[in-house]
Amino acid sequence: MSVEKKDMEKIVALCRRRGFIFGSSEIYGGIGGFWDYGPLGTELKRNVKDAWWEDMVRNPPEGPNGKEFQMVGVDCSIIMNPKVWEASGHVGGFSDPMVDCKTEGCKGRFRADQLCESPCPLKPSKMAGDFEKCGLTEARAFNLMFQTYVGAMQDNSSVAYLRPETAQGIFVNFKNVMDSTRVKVPFGIAQIGKAFRNEINPRNFTFRSREFEQMEIEFFCHPDESMMWYEYWRDVRIKWYESLGIRSDKLRPREQGEDELAHYSDACTDIEYLFPFSDETQELEGVAHRGNFDLRAHGTASKGKENAFAVIDDATKERFVPHVIEPSAGVDRFTLASITEAYSYDENRASPEFMKFHPRLAPIKAAVFPLVGKDGMPEIADPIYREIKKRFPCQYDAKQSIGKRYARMDEAGTPFCFTVDGQTKEDGTVTVRNRDDASQHRIDKSRCVEYLQDQLSL
Ligand code: GAP
Repeated sequence: MSVEKKDMEKIVALCRRRGFIFGSSEIYGGIGGFWDYGPLGTELKRNVKDAWWEDMVRNPPEGPNGKEFQMVGVDCSIIMNPKVWEASGHVGGFSDPMVDCKTEGCKGRFRADQLCESPCPLKPSKMAGDFEKCGLTEARAFNLMFQTYVGAMQDNSSVAYLRPETAQGIFVNFKNVMDSTRVKVPFGIAQIGKAFRNEINPRNFTFRSREFEQMEIEFFCHPDESMMWYEYWRDVRIKWYESLGIRSDKLRPREQGEDELAHYSDACTDIEYLFPFSDETQELEGVAHRGNFDLRAHGTASKGKENAFAVIDDATKERFVPHVIEPSAGVDRFTLASITEAYSYDENRASPEFMKFHPRLAPIKAAVFPLVGKDGMPEIADPIYREIKKRFPCQYDAKQSIGKRYARMDEAGTPFCFTVDGQTKEDGTVTVRNRDDASQHRIDKSRCVEYLQDQLSL
């Protein structure tokens, strides 16, 4: 059953109720654009990041035409020398167009390019600018970087920024990585970490937040091979989403038009997904061909030479500043996409709401229940649980009716539940229940781990 727009409210409610995602500092009324992940959400998000690191950094798919390449990681500081953000162009140009409403009692602030998605605070049935009382100003540029001060002095000399993307930490460490490892072009540097943007209108649950995480790769290659690597990474990234359960008919790779591309960029594809909160697909990730803009900009600003970060081709002795392909994904956006994709509702089931997470992403992989808390059943269930726990995230639950326990695991998205019952004592078998179709069958209690290994293919 496909997830509809109205289901978004149910999804947000389930996320809160089951501890996937809470509003940040809720007990004080919350704070717009900031979110906390609860126990299940934390495991889910960790699985997203682990899958990305494993599939893109440690064990990426074979290169185009079998071409060899290396991938390494970095973990850079969030606050960097502010000159980084001057050289990258963020201080001068990382802004969105903003309009204010001057109407008495409103004082709304909106992104000028998203007025049709921004309800008027005074009359929410209309969009900002459509209500006759709206008094919108001309648009002005609003820089999205959060500013802070480093050290005890709070003046212009101590201004610093919370990074608005993880990419720049990679660029400024390009030479450090080359000098400290034996990587040679083509190679990629990957980073997962927090980024901060003072979004004018955070919205759609975690989709547009002010604090979020990115998974970014800067892939350095020879200019002549850059289009080949661009196509490689675009295709690899689309397949990765599909491999983790995102339906291909909900994914749209949207090639940016000439008019949308940055002046230094030869190509960019937004990988978009049809979230239930919108009729239009929305960006999950951008795969950008960035030319050698960033390395030249940092070469000029830090060393006074735009080719300061040039490399030499061992075979041809050619000296060149590598071109960069940048697959840049949002951890929170993909986590939200996996939640909306997993959300399932079947009124014919005893527990209609269930989360059909891909096994790699499921926060809990299995649960073990004694049917009742007596008759020796807990004594049989406990060692089964302990054995599974050594290999897979597993929960033991002995409270309430078995139906309620299944319902709890369905909402958490746990693929399999093993139940110890009266028959277990007679023939040593347990019931296995499948989350997706609620079907049940019996296996020998000694085979639970093996069964999970087969079924989950992890
Ligand atoms: N280094 C390139 C870069 O940062 P971007 O398109 O601005 O490009 C990359 O961001 C990804 O980061 C987006 O595709 C999205 O998944 C995520 N992202 C960006 N802004 C976000 C926000 N306010 N909230 C949540 N995720 C965001």
